[in-house]
Amino acid sequence: MKPAIIFTSYTGTTHNVAEQVRKACGGNLIEVKSWDLVARLLMYMARHSPDIQVRDDGAPPGTIDVSNYDFVVIGTPVWMGKPPSGIRKTIAALTGCSGKPAVIFATCGEDPGTTLSVLSADIEAKGMTVAGQLSLSQKEIEDGTGVNALVGKIREQGSGS
Ligand SMILES: Cc1cc2nc3c(=O)[nH]c(=O)nc-3n(C[C@H](O)[C@H](O)[C@H](O)COP(=O)(O)O)c2cc1C
Repeated sequence: MKPAIIFTSYTGTTHNVAEQVRKACGGNLIEVKSWDLVARLLMYMARHSPDIQVRDDGAPPGTIDVSNYDFVVIGTPVWMGKPPSGIRKTIAALTGCSGKPAVIFATCGEDPGTTLSVLSADIEAKGMTVAGQLSLSQKEIEDGTGVNALVGKIREQGSGS
């Protein structure tokens, strides 16, 4: 059961989690990146911090056809309690997704705000079902518990569909 693992990552954390998911569950990584005004401003500031590495990889949001995949995994960082706009645009432009299950994950410092509920509504608006959702705090990512829990949810999906 093969997932399309669609994610955006500005400073690498969501990318690292997505890579671990792919290693554990298979599927393909599809990285997207929007450089709208908010993202440009925020990452301009981030590039001036010695502790932050900004990630430039990722295709601009556009049509992604997921008809060849059994299910979809969506990964995003949390920005001020919400998902960055690019991942929402990416979900809105998915094709071949109707009726497919989706597992959503958000990486954050510690408070995901409304990120998961916003993305759940976007997923449902595309005719997909939300089969699982999880936020992973920095601490849970560092100690491995977050990725383990996420992989567990995705494997449940993979074996059940
Ligand atoms: C502009 C900005 C806003 C953020 N807002 C939140 C927030 O509201 N809650 C939170 O827990 N973490 C917040 N964070 C932390 C990120 O969600 C967290 O570091 C995330 O894992 C980054 O993912 P990435 O490296 O894949 O871009 C914010 C980070 C940035 C750069």
